[in-house]
Amino acid sequence: MGFLSRKAKPAPVAVEEPHPIVEELERMEEVVPEQGTDRSAADATNGSAAGPVAAGDPPPPAVAEASSGAVPPAAPPAGERNGASADEASESGEGPGAGAAKADQDEGDGRLKAKDLITPSRHDAVEEDAEPEAPTKHAEVIAFANQKGGVAKTTTTLNLAVAFSETGHKVLCIDLDPQGNLTMSQGIDPDKVEKSLYDVLVNDMPISEVIQHREIDIAVSSIDLAGAEIAMSTKIGRERSLEKALKEVAGEYDFICIDTPPSLGLLTINALTAATKVIVPVQCEYLSMRGLVQLQNTLKMIQENLNPDVRIEGILPTMLDARTVHAKEAIEILEENFGELVFKSRIRKAIKFAEAPVKGSSVLKYDPQGNAASYYRDLAKEVLANESA
Ligand SMILES: Nc1ncnc2c1ncn2[C@@H]1O[C@H](COP(=O)(O)OP(=O)(O)OP(=O)(O)O)[C@@H](O)[C@H]1O
Ligand SMILES: [Mg+2]
Repeated sequence: MGFLSRKAKPAPVAVEEPHPIVEELERMEEVVPEQGTDRSAADATNGSAAGPVAAGDPPPPAVAEASSGAVPPAAPPAGERNGASADEASESGEGPGAGAAKADQDEGDGRLKAKDLITPSRHDAVEEDAEPEAPTKHAEVIAFANQKGGVAKTTTTLNLAVAFSETGHKVLCIDLDPQGNLTMSQGIDPDKVEKSLYDVLVNDMPISEVIQHREIDIAVSSIDLAGAEIAMSTKIGRERSLEKALKEVAGEYDFICIDTPPSLGLLTINALTAATKVIVPVQCEYLSMRGLVQLQNTLKMIQENLNPDVRIEGILPTMLDARTVHAKEAIEILEENFGELVFKSRIRKAIKFAEAPVKGSSVLKYDPQGNAASYYRDLAKEVLANESA
């Protein structure tokens, strides 16, 4: 269980029993060798400072111009505006103080400089525009996964995303489930969307083209996503299609929340490969917990082969009916087996969760003051507290 630890990043552990997906992936590797998808290389070019700029892209214009010397460098601070630039001072080997003294001297000699002859006012304006805009965000990517159906993956993805958004975070949801339940929960008919994640994963369409703006931003699903696994199966780097697509928008969001289908196929593997964290909703029933071992094995396989950084953020007890002895026992079993990985927050049963999607809205919008909304606000607080811990 060491690999699941929230705090320390553990060493990968060998899978005792080979998971069927491991065999499937190995078989596919033999048929189509993967090229140019090395994660460490990708990370090196796409670290947090790189923001939304894709690997291999030319530098932003302002940076390119400054380094080529084709236009003057970015405007110096107000104190250095007149006279010698900081660059001139540093080129001559003098410190900043000496540069300022030289500037005073230059101002005094009354001679025109070359740059003053080129329409000085416009020149100054260009200098100010040339400041490159630094990317301010780099999204935390959270996948919501459990191959068991109906455990509240979609409900949790949407409501936690909206709770993040209420606290001022910019959030993108990804509906990676061909059922399109998350898309429907935001009032969008998956049968009517023209462009969906199918086009992104299979045809390399930029993900920004399938994002619609609702309570949160959402990259929509459609029924043809059901055919994406087969269409992608012969594609080079098929497990990394989503990870690659997200690079375009990672600089615009604080959180990217991925809803996955109830299976451990290629769509879920794409989600786990793109994610840094996984939240596992578990219905508080004994039988629902049995599938967790299978999910652990899949995660080990992903850690060893595709994404060493992914880890379980937490296991979330959902649909809790605290009045029943069975639910209490189920939580006890969860805590005995997964310890601190079990969230303190509990999502209790509430009819509002079934009603809200019919209205195309989250529970936080449908019944803002209700208990149901507060369960996910509490969960958002817990996740954010873990982030800053
Ligand atoms: N806390 C809750 N109380 C009562 N009903 C809930 C709760 N959470 C979710 N539901 C309802 O349970 C059903 C299944 O939830 P949801 O669709 O979120 O599960 P899922 O894991 O995404 O399912 P699937 O595996 O099919 O994608 C939905 O009708 C939802 O409205
Ligand atoms: Mg779902």
